[in-house]
Amino acid sequence: MFLEILKKGVRKSFYLFITRKSLTLYSFIDKNRSFSNQDPKGPINWPFFGVLLRLGEKPHLTYQKWNRQYGGIIKIWLGKNYSMIVSDPVIMKEIWVKDFKTFADRPKFPTLRKFSFGFQDLAMVDYESWKGRRELVANYFTRGKLKNSIPIIDSNAENLIRLMKPYATSKQPKYALNIVLNYVFSTNIPFDEDINGGYLKRLDTPVNDVIGLLTTGALMDYITILEWIYNIKDKYTSHGFDVLYQIMKEIYEKHEENLDVENPKDIVDYLIINLKENEGENKKNIIILMSLNMFLAGFDTSTSALEWLCYTCANYQDVQERVYKELSEVAAGTGKITLANRTQTPYLNAVLKEILRYRTLIPLGVPRVAREDAIVCGYYIPKGVSSDQP
Ligand code: HEM
Repeated sequence: MFLEILKKGVRKSFYLFITRKSLTLYSFIDKNRSFSNQDPKGPINWPFFGVLLRLGEKPHLTYQKWNRQYGGIIKIWLGKNYSMIVSDPVIMKEIWVKDFKTFADRPKFPTLRKFSFGFQDLAMVDYESWKGRRELVANYFTRGKLKNSIPIIDSNAENLIRLMKPYATSKQPKYALNIVLNYVFSTNIPFDEDINGGYLKRLDTPVNDVIGLLTTGALMDYITILEWIYNIKDKYTSHGFDVLYQIMKEIYEKHEENLDVENPKDIVDYLIINLKENEGENKKNIIILMSLNMFLAGFDTSTSALEWLCYTCANYQDVQERVYKELSEVAAGTGKITLANRTQTPYLNAVLKEILRYRTLIPLGVPRVAREDAIVCGYYIPKGVSSDQP
């Protein structure tokens, strides 16, 4: 009897062992197969995970290393997703500029689905709907109309300087937020508001939740079983996205109440008046989501750029000294600097550009997906493949 049970157990373990080995072997072959004889080269992919476990703490640097080793475009598997990593500027231009329409969609990751409430916003929506929305936003942000932002930037810079004076030797809060809030929503966080109360307090945790999820890479985007768990959890718990959606909804409803059709005061008004393709609740939802895009995309990028400027100046004090000297000379007499002085501060302008290069804010870009099979610079990119640009 005991021998029978033992034999059954051994047989079961043997079958499980063989099944696991076969699946692993199948996955290994599958992830290292060629789609065509024009595939880009790439590193070896492990079963199930592809290269996920080999990316290290700084995936963009690992990608750069592989790009140097295998070429300006490489193929990899990130878990279940076949992807291309592009670092050659000529290939980048082909994909993201010349043949943009073919690569205009975004991957259908669960995190991006959450971010865009089902791919209904501007940044994540599919090409056909994106075209019209993007045209509206681009039209709003034309050079001429951007002039409206100059007084907003100047007054916020002035407020920031006033506020920083007493904090010069202690911790100072972030205030780049107001430029985006003012320009996009005509909303302002009072400069004397305590960071532990009011608007800042309301935004702090949800913004950190969202930025954390979007910027650190989420395994559930690449591993099927984690995607299922994430989707179940998402059904029953609320996330920073939901809080931010609610805040944007309140802002939208105030705009709708006070709308002056002849004089749109900001981009939300402009979208309410001009977004024609959808009406009613759906239109409202799209505008809320587009506003959320602009809020998140506009505020964390500019805040981080300013933070890097401060850190870099602290670490390269000769640069800080030159920036300080240039600004002091321009401010001599009036004691004031505004955007109108930009042409007189070539060194500061160069430092700002260098910060954007030296501390790239979005080192992997925002992925896009091929909408159809394509050959780019002799390389085959199948439909549905996402591409990043380190
Ligand atoms: C240093 C500052 C910034 C950097 C480095 C930056 C970078 C980027 C990048 C890499 C993308 C993805 C582009 C693509 O895949 O097509 C993007 C998209 C976007 N950014 Fe920015 N951005 C900055 C500032 C801003 C500001 C100030 C705003 C808004 C007021 C903004 C709004 C957006 C929007 C709405 C999108 C999505 C556009 C679309 O998909 O059509 N960004 N940004």
